[in-house]
Amino acid sequence: MKAIIFENYGAPEKVLKIGEVEIPIPKDNEVLIKIYATAINDYDWNLVSGKPLLYRMMFGLLKPKKNIPGIEFSGVIERIGGVVDELKIGDAVFGDISEFGFGTFAEYICVNEKSVVKKTKELSFEEATTVPHAFALALQALKDIGQIKKNQKILINGGGGGVGLFAVQIAKVYGCHVTGVDSSEKLELMKSVGFDTVIDYKITNFTQENVAYDLVLDCKTNQSVFAYKRVLKDKGNYVTIGGQLTKLFSVVLWGKIISLFSAKQFQLVGLQQNKELDYFMELFKQKKIKSIIDGPYLFEDIPRLIQYFGKGKHKGKIVIKMNVDSPMD
Ligand SMILES: NC(=O)c1ccc[n+]([C@@H]2O[C@H](COP(=O)([O-])OP(=O)(O)OC[C@H]3O[C@@H](n4cnc5c(N)ncnc54)[C@H](OP(=O)(O)O)[C@@H]3O)[C@@H](O)[C@H]2O)c1
Repeated sequence: MKAIIFENYGAPEKVLKIGEVEIPIPKDNEVLIKIYATAINDYDWNLVSGKPLLYRMMFGLLKPKKNIPGIEFSGVIERIGGVVDELKIGDAVFGDISEFGFGTFAEYICVNEKSVVKKTKELSFEEATTVPHAFALALQALKDIGQIKKNQKILINGGGGGVGLFAVQIAKVYGCHVTGVDSSEKLELMKSVGFDTVIDYKITNFTQENVAYDLVLDCKTNQSVFAYKRVLKDKGNYVTIGGQLTKLFSVVLWGKIISLFSAKQFQLVGLQQNKELDYFMELFKQKKIKSIIDGPYLFEDIPRLIQYFGKGKHKGKIVIKMNVDSPMD
């Protein structure tokens, strides 16, 4: 089968090559999936570039331990392992495999059955592959950690990215007023997806405006904890999903101390993969949520697309159609 392979960390267009590898055979608790579509995530950029350096503790100190990137997929089951009983050959599925590793930038993958969710027929393969990682992060940040409530005033920093564009749609289900912060090129799209107010971070620092929020969802974590504290209402919640590592550590540490002396909360999301994807499918059928797709692009474009992701120029989720001759619905 064809796969996108790399042996050393570096610039995606330099280190990633298209190669041929054996189609894997599923272990007892695994299924073999023919991949129809995949999407690019932050983790792929981190894995291929080997940055930030701290991540190499997980990915391999000098060389990557995993040689095929990719964590999100949609496709069809072609074989099942001996103890798999909830899934069968021919099921259309999607999922996030980041709990178990990487490898979706290939024509086939064997994955643990826990990484696989059955896809409703209303959702195309292209739409489905955008959902598991970014939607789960957005939902867990707003609902499980942020305790979102009806009609709140919410701000999403980095609102024009994969997570932010799902988060705003979830927040609108709760009837919230949502402000999004991102670069000027993304503001029109953000308004069309549901943001009530948009802020260009190159012009305005939202933490210096005189506006307070019930909930701040941060996809970038590029300010100090004291700046975030300033824009939280008295019982406000700040939830980060990630960002600059030094700022992230400082926000989590200082946030705990601030929470001891005030009702303001500062928390970090630890993603639980593939949780509540049924909720996405329910909202999708009710036309309350949609995937924002950049693409679809061809398999051969993946090295260039990871570079494109790294520069932050994508709008929504970058989707790759894996098999040109596959049916896409
Ligand atoms: N907690 C967990 O378990 C977990 C698991 C996986 C991933 N993550 C985190 O999830 C995040 C990825 O989210 P994503 O997929 O939405 O990323 P994304 O698609 O790259 O979106 C980030 C957005 O932030 C914008 N941005 C850049 N600089 C900014 C600034 N100074 N102020 C405001 N916005 C800015 C980017 O736009 P421009 O570049 O055009 O400016 C981009 O639109 C990462 O932080 C990652 O670490 C967390």
